Amino acid sequence: MNESVCGIIPDKEWLNTELQFTYQKIISNLDTFTDNVPSPASKNLQYIPEENTDWTASFWVGMLWLCWEYKQDGRIAAVIQKQMGAFQNRLENDIGLHTHDVGFLYSLSAVAAYRLTRDRRAKDMAVKAADKLMERYSETAGIFQAWGEMDDPGAQGRMIIDCNMNLPLLYFASEQTGDPKYHIAAVRHADQAKKYLVRSDGTTFHTFYMDVITGGPRFGRTHQGYSDDSCWARGQAWAIYGFALSYLHTGDISYLETACRLADYFISRLPGDWVCYWDLVFTDGDEERDSSAASIVACGLLEIAKHLPLSDPRRGKYENIALSIIRSLADCYTTKNTPQSNGLLLHAVYAKPENRGVDECCIWGDYFYLEALIRLYKIWYPYW
Ligand code: GLY
Repeated sequence: MNESVCGIIPDKEWLNTELQFTYQKIISNLDTFTDNVPSPASKNLQYIPEENTDWTASFWVGMLWLCWEYKQDGRIAAVIQKQMGAFQNRLENDIGLHTHDVGFLYSLSAVAAYRLTRDRRAKDMAVKAADKLMERYSETAGIFQAWGEMDDPGAQGRMIIDCNMNLPLLYFASEQTGDPKYHIAAVRHADQAKKYLVRSDGTTFHTFYMDVITGGPRFGRTHQGYSDDSCWARGQAWAIYGFALSYLHTGDISYLETACRLADYFISRLPGDWVCYWDLVFTDGDEERDSSAASIVACGLLEIAKHLPLSDPRRGKYENIALSIIRSLADCYTTKNTPQSNGLLLHAVYAKPENRGVDECCIWGDYFYLEALIRLYKIWYPYW
């Protein structure tokens, strides 16, 4: 790894240039993505408009909310309104919601809307979405099943590390309704993830099967990583940020310490330019980078740093590394010199084993890049 921490406090001019670039890109995409949303990954660096049915549909409206925090532009507000209608419709008609990613979907739409506008309808939408997510909870195994129907033997009892980012919707629902059931289930899942998805060397399994009859552990498997025993970079990124968020919402210090341990492993596998390969088994060579994992980790490190005491040397270290990642993404990974692309961040990977979205823009990478910039720009309370 690169030992020299080169994080430079971004000056206002640098930050404004970056924000202005992302803002203009988003403005130029508003007409294409008014009713539709961008595909999860670009094709030849172009996102294709698609209906709001996939797990990734909320990253676009999340970016619009972030943009709104930067500049209150009526054109953005008009598209947000349309997008929020689509999320309401999706919930009412139960479209593509048999997935734990209900958390991603309704944190960046309904929770963001409620945090920024205090609109009761947004709060109700978020709580209804949390109820939907609760349908995936196995009381015996203490986990949220990631994918598939609950009685599908191939999918049953499978938790995945990405789910850490779905738990904040549940914390929000308990906070708003006063009903502890969502919070209790989220904490049990986070504890099971800490116990079984996190390995003793500070790496993570992408997925882990639990026995839903006995509640006992079965085995870990990868889905998007290089191998079952490697550490998929984006999985580690979801874990770092997700455990930090479970700390934010529960105050349980073991989640913050877990996030730090996973972050230390992630940092130890970074190549010289601070942007990880798609699986942390690689630290050099021709394999693709995953800029989307890098942008998630930048946000995760900034969130962790906020909660560490000033006397803890990890605080400055994580802030500096987050800045180094963001600087590197800004200098070498954005589409500033690729104006034909409608994405923001180049060189992401969706699913290498399926040859899907390899070395393309990925919409969550764009979202987290903008979230990272906004975190540098203002005091920002997470939508998560
Ligand atoms: N949560 C799915 C992914 O990161 O690809």
